[in-house]
Amino acid sequence: MTLTPTASDRFTFGLWTVGWTGNDPFGVATRSPLDPVEAVHQLSGIGAYGITFHDNDLIPFDASAQERKTILTDFGKALDATGLKVPMVTTNLFSHPVFKDGGFTSNDRSIRRYALRKVLANIDLAAELGAETFVMWGGREGAEYDGSKDFAAALDRMKEGVDTAAAYIKDKGYGLRLALEPKPNEPRGDIFLPTVGHALAFIAELEHGDIVGVNPETGHEQMAGLNFNHGIAQALWAGKLFHIDLNGQKSIKYDQDLVFGHGDLTSAFFTVDLLENGFPNGGPKYDGPRHFDYKPSRTDGYDGVWESAKANMSMYLLLKERALAFRADAEVQEALKVSGVIELGEPTLAAGETTADLLADTSAFEDFDANAAGERSFAFVRLNQLAMEHLLGARG
Ligand code: GCO
Ligand code: MN
Ligand code: MN
Repeated sequence: MTLTPTASDRFTFGLWTVGWTGNDPFGVATRSPLDPVEAVHQLSGIGAYGITFHDNDLIPFDASAQERKTILTDFGKALDATGLKVPMVTTNLFSHPVFKDGGFTSNDRSIRRYALRKVLANIDLAAELGAETFVMWGGREGAEYDGSKDFAAALDRMKEGVDTAAAYIKDKGYGLRLALEPKPNEPRGDIFLPTVGHALAFIAELEHGDIVGVNPETGHEQMAGLNFNHGIAQALWAGKLFHIDLNGQKSIKYDQDLVFGHGDLTSAFFTVDLLENGFPNGGPKYDGPRHFDYKPSRTDGYDGVWESAKANMSMYLLLKERALAFRADAEVQEALKVSGVIELGEPTLAAGETTADLLADTSAFEDFDANAAGERSFAFVRLNQLAMEHLLGARG
């Protein structure tokens, strides 16, 4: 196992991540702007597989048609020269004042129509660049005041927007799928579709939900006090984990976007365990890019930007090494059995058994010794300690 990333690891970075200049609500930029062409060369140089972007990370909001063309030509040349891919593209529906009340769910209909046009144009660009995933993060789709929105109408408009984009993809025959990215708050006080669970329930109501999935971000679930691994597991189970944003977050607070593993390390270990090893009893596995959506700290210069980009990949590979050793350890496999983790993979009813059969089975109820069964020790602490020892490199 090597800890030097290569393109086959499929690590990808948002242009807005390494390109973040450090401006926040309290202070101006601490770094100079990063040329997208330079970003492509740097990322390729450190072993990344791809780069992703919002339309306006690459093409300024007010660029002329000629400027757009020049930018895309230069960017395309850098991609060709390095072999870096663009597996995902997303749309900025949050920076410009026009989107202050959202894009798809703005109370102003003309703004909703404008937002939809911006998305459709960006879908064309995504297809042109060979992207497979089109992310929709609705950072401004929300409210600060419960009385300022008709929530049902907002969900109708969100559905209309997503379905229109999905139908357009199908009409054009593009090889793209949409991935909704949940976030509970920030920049809006409350954002629609705040968690993976809300997004999955919304997708089930869509007309074109077959090409719509989710793009969960580590820190976003954790900002809501939720367990990220439960979220991505349910998305996988539903066949909807189309993309993933890996980063770090320490508890319920503002969106920290730390380096992957620099937040809740134990959770990061189990994220990598799930992505690399899959569920203990088999089932759907994630096979998309490992995308980092983090912010290089504004205290650091460009040396720190590239160090932090490398740190994301290195954390992932270190955790991968440990997660593989964890599952390969015979003691762990035995502990998984003792703890019933493997037993949970067994259906509760036998093959072909009916409810009537279950009702007729006295051993399941009438003769069942609940007190004796209640004495079973699941030994979960020992299992977790084995995981921690592997995480710390104290075993195998
Ligand atoms: C955040 C979000 C964004 C989105 C991105 C994709 O940290 O609030 O992750 O960075 O991922 O805008 O559209
Ligand atoms: Mn984030
Ligand atoms: Mn994200």
